[in-house]
Amino acid sequence: MAQLLDGKSLSLEIREDVKNRVEKLIHKNGITPHLAVILVGDNPASQSYVKGKETACRKAGIISTVVKVDALISEVELLKIVDDLNNDTSVHGILLQLPIPKHLNAENVIEHIRSDKDVDGFTPKNVALLTNGFPHLVPCTPLGIIRILKKYHIPIEGQHCVVIGRSQIVGKPMASLLLRENGTVTICHSRTKDLQAMAKTADILVVAMGKPKMVNSSYIKTGATVIDVGISRVDDVIVGDVEFESAEKVAGFITPVPGGVGPMTIACLLENTLTCYESLVENKR
Ligand SMILES: NC(=O)c1ccc[n+]([C@@H]2O[C@H](COP(=O)([O-])OP(=O)(O)OC[C@H]3O[C@@H](n4cnc5c(N)ncnc54)[C@H](OP(=O)(O)O)[C@@H]3O)[C@@H](O)[C@H]2O)c1
Repeated sequence: MAQLLDGKSLSLEIREDVKNRVEKLIHKNGITPHLAVILVGDNPASQSYVKGKETACRKAGIISTVVKVDALISEVELLKIVDDLNNDTSVHGILLQLPIPKHLNAENVIEHIRSDKDVDGFTPKNVALLTNGFPHLVPCTPLGIIRILKKYHIPIEGQHCVVIGRSQIVGKPMASLLLRENGTVTICHSRTKDLQAMAKTADILVVAMGKPKMVNSSYIKTGATVIDVGISRVDDVIVGDVEFESAEKVAGFITPVPGGVGPMTIACLLENTLTCYESLVENKR
């Protein structure tokens, strides 16, 4: 039976640490860290994610402002909102909640966010820094996964790491981070031939497809570490991309869904907010 990788309890440790750091930073600088989240439209899943981020900020002592805008907003108007937040010295981190309505170009809007306020690590400058091996602000989900692997002393160096999924927010930055830790990295996607055989060669298998329970024990090498990033709602239940019941019989370590990667994403968002704060407030003193 696999050992459970408990992202929930690690995330609580990180959040407690962030809270202590926030108290010290406020005491030292007289300025409270502040995250602004832009929420376009009324997608229920986005609203619920934003609420989770707001609560986490509040508990950590970070100010969180949610800028709610109508789904029909024009791109010019949205860019103006980003500009205002870029120029607002009381705001240290800016997050655009994705997805945004199709008439808006998400890449354009993200490119507009100041790279030193880019808590998601999605702007071209932060992507380039990560790809070139000098990460500064790193996307929260893959960062959280590295934190889990380190917490449980799972070696990455020299290990074969297979990442299923090549999105900008999970798969690609995950591969860059694993490579930086000297893993041997393979990225799989929807055109990969014989995904199952490829996955089965992994010492560390990161699954980020958005295909509920697709990866079962037949994709997993005995003793491998399995990280399930997927979040899908099936019959009103949240499930991952991994069929946990069969996978845990073969894997050495495995993240549950919920309670694995998800809570770490929020914890790393808080940490990234402090990274922005430190570079904007502390380094300019
Ligand atoms: N836990 C968290 O905090 C967290 C954070 C972010 C996302 N998520 C979840 O993680 C999942 C992935 O998110 P995402 O934003 O990366 O999704 P995405 O942008 O839709 O990307 C999915 C990736 O999976 C690949 N893929 C899809 N079907 C496949 C198949 N049958 N075989 C092999 N590869 C396949 C796609 O390949 P192509 O590129 O070829 O299309 C794509 O690269 C979703 O369930 C999402 O909700 C969770």
